[in-house]
Amino acid sequence: MKNEGVRSMANNAVMSTKVEKEKILIFGAGGYLGKLMVKASLSMGHPTLAYVRSTNPDPSKKRLLHEFELMNVTIVQGELEEHEKLVSVLRQVDVVISTLPVPQHLQQLKIIDAIKEAPNIQRFVPSEYGNEVDRVRGALPPFEALLENKRKIRRATEVAGIPFTYVSANSFAAYFVNYLLHPNEQRDHVVVRGTGEAKAVLNYEEDVAFYTIKAATDPRVANRVIIYRPPGNIVSQLDLISLWEKKTGRTLRKMLIPEEDVVKLTESLPYPDNIREAILHNIFIKGEQTSFDLTENDMEASALYPDHSYTSVDSLLDLCLLSPPKPKLASFA
Ligand SMILES: NC(=O)c1ccc[n+]([C@@H]2O[C@H](COP(=O)([O-])OP(=O)(O)OC[C@H]3O[C@@H](n4cnc5c(N)ncnc54)[C@H](OP(=O)(O)O)[C@@H]3O)[C@@H](O)[C@H]2O)c1
Repeated sequence: MKNEGVRSMANNAVMSTKVEKEKILIFGAGGYLGKLMVKASLSMGHPTLAYVRSTNPDPSKKRLLHEFELMNVTIVQGELEEHEKLVSVLRQVDVVISTLPVPQHLQQLKIIDAIKEAPNIQRFVPSEYGNEVDRVRGALPPFEALLENKRKIRRATEVAGIPFTYVSANSFAAYFVNYLLHPNEQRDHVVVRGTGEAKAVLNYEEDVAFYTIKAATDPRVANRVIIYRPPGNIVSQLDLISLWEKKTGRTLRKMLIPEEDVVKLTESLPYPDNIREAILHNIFIKGEQTSFDLTENDMEASALYPDHSYTSVDSLLDLCLLSPPKPKLASFA
């Protein structure tokens, strides 16, 4: 009898670990990546909360919040400056994922300050989703400033003793395919920066969200950097162009911009347009996303989650033939 009692307690414990999914709070939930993060979190059965600005001027936001409510997302309206409100919502969740845009990256210090008063937080994922900021070198000044802000947030998280996962998602695939190939338009030409041969990593945004939710709740990735570098997503500009030419049956005229001209553009273009060129230089001319080899100590997303069939660049181009994703440009200022 005694043994049965112990077993039933053990079964109950197993059942409760199965049903009790981490509660996830998302900052920037109404944004380009944030919306996908909300969907990925819900699809994996996590009670999901969204901290959204009460002052967002965008009229489409109301519709989106209504959609969120229908999907059972708990919406908390507030500003990052409302410390007490932040602490109170943080005390109700286990995991915090930020998808705030570039101009708000340093404002994540306010989230860190609030997490210090919520010792229940098991994981904080700051908004990065790009190059591995502690390993990438040689960024031109406008991009380096952005990377430096991400490093500041990493260091502040560590000093505060907050458990973290840092996500190096490399390049968003739909975002850069739109920018480089313009699949929405029937252009006869394509711009190639540098020689076009450097390899970048282009990950479909839905996979970025999927891997992030998995990693944020995975003990193996506690206090680690996770890098998204699936083998099917490593491509150069020339690879992309050639794939697209084969799929469309059209040959594109290549307009080459030599590296020195791209560097000059980063010096002469007004802020924040210079940031975009500096990013393109780092990723597609310097090839910094693939400039270091992954070792067995690194955490690579497709290796950690082999059962997830990610959308390769090739498959994304097939999607673009049917229905190209809506173009999006990141806000830098
Ligand atoms: N690797 C890549 O290729 C790539 C490409 C694009 C972006 N990213 C990265 O992905 C992350 C998310 O970018 P995103 O393009 O998804 O962002 P986004 O759509 O521009 O904005 C995300 C959300 O942040 C909130 N927000 C905006 N301004 C704010 C303010 N002043 N105060 C407080 N909240 C504000 C808004 O949410 P609410 O209105 O709901 O509060 C907004 O919907 C960033 O770290 C960015 O660097 C990476």
